[in-house]
Amino acid sequence: MKKIMSVLAGLLTLAACNSNTPKADANKDGNAIVETIMTRTSVRDYTEQTVSAETIETLLRAGMAAPTAVNKQPWHFVAITDRQKLDSIATVNPYAGMVKKAPLAIVVCGNMEKALEGEARAYWIQDCSAATENILLAAHGLGLGAVWTGLYPGEDRVKAMSELLKLPETIIPLCAIIIGYPAESPQPKDKWLPENVSYNEYQY
Ligand SMILES: Cc1cc2nc3c(=O)[nH]c(=O)nc-3n(C[C@H](O)[C@H](O)[C@H](O)COP(=O)(O)O)c2cc1C
Repeated sequence: MKKIMSVLAGLLTLAACNSNTPKADANKDGNAIVETIMTRTSVRDYTEQTVSAETIETLLRAGMAAPTAVNKQPWHFVAITDRQKLDSIATVNPYAGMVKKAPLAIVVCGNMEKALEGEARAYWIQDCSAATENILLAAHGLGLGAVWTGLYPGEDRVKAMSELLKLPETIIPLCAIIIGYPAESPQPKDKWLPENVSYNEYQY
């Protein structure tokens, strides 16, 4: 009896661990993933529906699941739901006017204290871009609409966003992802251009 109880306890522990740990084979439906990628498009108009704290965390987790050089994860994410702060983003980037209707923005930043040294330091831009794309795709998958709005390397935009968010000098804002429930359904663009591809060596 004691042995059976101990086996049962072991099985329960295993089940509990499994429910918390991301599984390598959790998404075997590659078609669904490609479908999500191919149907994502920038959404710049939103309803008044707010985004729950749980959904915001899911988006942040998706960002942090991105690959990074030497697994440095040299990032920091600022989730903004404050109406005044959101509206101010339109002043930081004149091409981010859609934020005035959005309930959420996530500013993806590079953390220079976690970045690689020397010439590899610039990998932070790719790392944070990968996180940004993950968030855009997760947002689309969750029925949200989102658009990447650029900050870095625009010096004025980086300075203005740093002031707005009271960022320390070691944190550099790369972009602001503007997010909300879609009030428009723009068609995804077909960007497939065979001329942009070579096989095995550059085709002139
Ligand atoms: C680095 C970068 C900066 C961008 N900045 C802005 C921006 O400031 N405002 C905006 O409306 N869209 C911005 N976009 C979104 C692009 O305009 C959009 O991704 C592009 O037109 C392709 O459309 P799609 O996202 O619907 O495929 C930016 C995208 C990237 C990758």
